Amino acid sequence: MQTIGVIGAGQMGAGIAQVSAQAGFRVILADVALDRAEAGKAGIAKALARLVEKEKIAEDDRDAALASIEPVGSVAAMGDCALVIEAATEREAIKRAIFADVGKVLGADAILASNTSSIPITRLAQAAPDPARFMGVHFFNPVPVMGLIELIRGLATADATVAAVEDYAKALGKQVVRANDAPGFIVNRVLMPMLNEACFALGEGVATMQDIDLACQLGLNHPMGPLTLADFIGLDTCLEITRVLFEGTGDPKFRPAPLLVKYVEAGWFGRKAKRGFYDYSGAVPVPTR
Ligand code: 3HC
Repeated sequence: MQTIGVIGAGQMGAGIAQVSAQAGFRVILADVALDRAEAGKAGIAKALARLVEKEKIAEDDRDAALASIEPVGSVAAMGDCALVIEAATEREAIKRAIFADVGKVLGADAILASNTSSIPITRLAQAAPDPARFMGVHFFNPVPVMGLIELIRGLATADATVAAVEDYAKALGKQVVRANDAPGFIVNRVLMPMLNEACFALGEGVATMQDIDLACQLGLNHPMGPLTLADFIGLDTCLEITRVLFEGTGDPKFRPAPLLVKYVEAGWFGRKAKRGFYDYSGAVPVPTR
């Protein structure tokens, strides 16, 4: 059984660890401190317990998946991983420091992949132990529910690296798409302008928050309206990716909506901050405008 290393036990990292364990991989789940990695595993235990309650998985499968996840407080334990996926905070300096650390223990054939949603893979590869064995593997939130993984190759990524990560992604039961290393890759290149435009529409008084969301939800058959989805992703993340699109292409069509900037400056980052376009402090989200 192959061992997968996951660095970062937050929402994305825990999701990646969960689906990897459910697919039969042994998983080493690392965070900056052991208690954070353990908290990530505790979240996975809850998610798996819900799946048992709903009779989606058997208790034995839950127990096997949980037993195959080892939480650790450093990347030093990743020496026998065939693939290490970095799913840490979306800050380049943090990712570079992680690559330097994991580079000290990574096996000679092991692959390092980043779940970055926006940082150019070719640039990140410069900090990886071997750019030929480095690439982007972009999961979507919530990882256990979303059926897609984007694979992004940098300029130096070897064909064998892409093929191995594609095999892993398919073993998780996900569909894969291959994207070139262009700002936003595929999904965020298309999604973020829509979310940003919803912010422009709200700021310009085109309609109320609820009507913008309802219009897109029912008129486009999307599971969530764009403002609800922006809150779900995190308004800071949406702004960050929109800026990558704007700066990476130099095209003014990607300029961030002033209202989005204002919400982020207010610290209203969305669901995780309990306040974004909606207020999440009560049982039901309430529009803030
Ligand atoms: N983890 C695991 N399962 C979850 C979950 C979570 N966080 N949230 C919901 N689910 C499951 C539920 O258990 C339920 O499963 P069931 O059908 O087997 O009972 C199913 O998903 C549907 O959930 P709910 O009935 O509670 O609610 P919804 O029908 O509203 O679905 C949703 C919730 C799946 C989040 C849906 O609203 C959705 O798909 N929204 C859009 C999500 C999206 O677009 N994600 C991509 C964001 S972009 C991104 O990640 C890229 C990054 O770079 C920015």
